[in-house]
Amino acid sequence: MNVKQLPPLFNFEAMEKTAVFSNGLTGQDILSVSQFDKDKLDYIFARAREMREMVERVGGTDLLKGHVLACLFYEPSTRTSSSFIAAMERLGGGVIPITQGVKFSSVSKGETLADTVRTLEQYADVIVLRHPEMGAAKLAADYASVPVINAGDGPGEHPTQALLDLFTIREELGRIDGLKIAMVGDLRYGRTVHSLTKLLLQYNVSLRFVSPEILRLPLNIMNQVIDAGINVRETHDVADVIENADVLYVTRVQKERFSDLSQYEEVKDHYEITPELMQKAKKKMIVMHPLPRVGEIHYSVDHDPRAAYFRQVRNGMFIRMALLAAVLGKA
Ligand code: CP
Repeated sequence: MNVKQLPPLFNFEAMEKTAVFSNGLTGQDILSVSQFDKDKLDYIFARAREMREMVERVGGTDLLKGHVLACLFYEPSTRTSSSFIAAMERLGGGVIPITQGVKFSSVSKGETLADTVRTLEQYADVIVLRHPEMGAAKLAADYASVPVINAGDGPGEHPTQALLDLFTIREELGRIDGLKIAMVGDLRYGRTVHSLTKLLLQYNVSLRFVSPEILRLPLNIMNQVIDAGINVRETHDVADVIENADVLYVTRVQKERFSDLSQYEEVKDHYEITPELMQKAKKKMIVMHPLPRVGEIHYSVDHDPRAAYFRQVRNGMFIRMALLAAVLGKA
């Protein structure tokens, strides 16, 4: 992948040093989890821990002072957009927030994605893009001369979510190798599941996929799991996996991806994690969810210390702080 034009305030004398420190991420588009080997993951996780410590001690720093992030969201978002904005602001940078479903931007007048990113790069040093079409982030990156970070492209990938998910597992359970991880819900359209599954193939884990028949994991991803030699099983029933799971990763059925809404109605209430079900789970395990939830986890589970989904949300900010600093060459 080509390294892009460095941001204006980049210190060229320090370029080689920061390139090493940022582990090859400086100036890169972040489009897929396939860009992250274990070295890069360890690097981002170490930086995220530093960011967490810094935020908890002093709230913010001016590491990215003078840099600007354009947040371009063609689909709704609460967590991804807010955490990227918070990440940039806590690092002293500025934000162009086009996060109201682009209806107040010139996209509503028919401007193309290509022209929109070529406009935003005139103002910003990095663009975060969410788009309903798979491959849109790659298209934007082909046109932009500043790094583009994929914040979700349709049912494709959501790489920064997968980074924060993996980081959460590591921080909550102290390891990744040896864990039994069960993914529940919409495995067909759930891009967070696709990205996290691909990342987990680098580890010695067991995977359990729990979904209704029509929402099974896409075959191309299942084939990657099998080729990686992972211990894997599919089932329709959470009861088959709850007792042994170290991680229960629950997802929402993605109504917006269904062309036939009667199919959505058939499967939308298929799963609900309840306190009764949690009684069957290990004492030391975690329940995760990328959120938003629409009924998959009962609110009374929130009081269970194993409910990790709001800690997961907070980790997103630290991971995105680490990633922005790395992409902008500020180690
Ligand atoms: N997890 C996630 O992507 O949440 P948002 O859709 O709120 O950004």
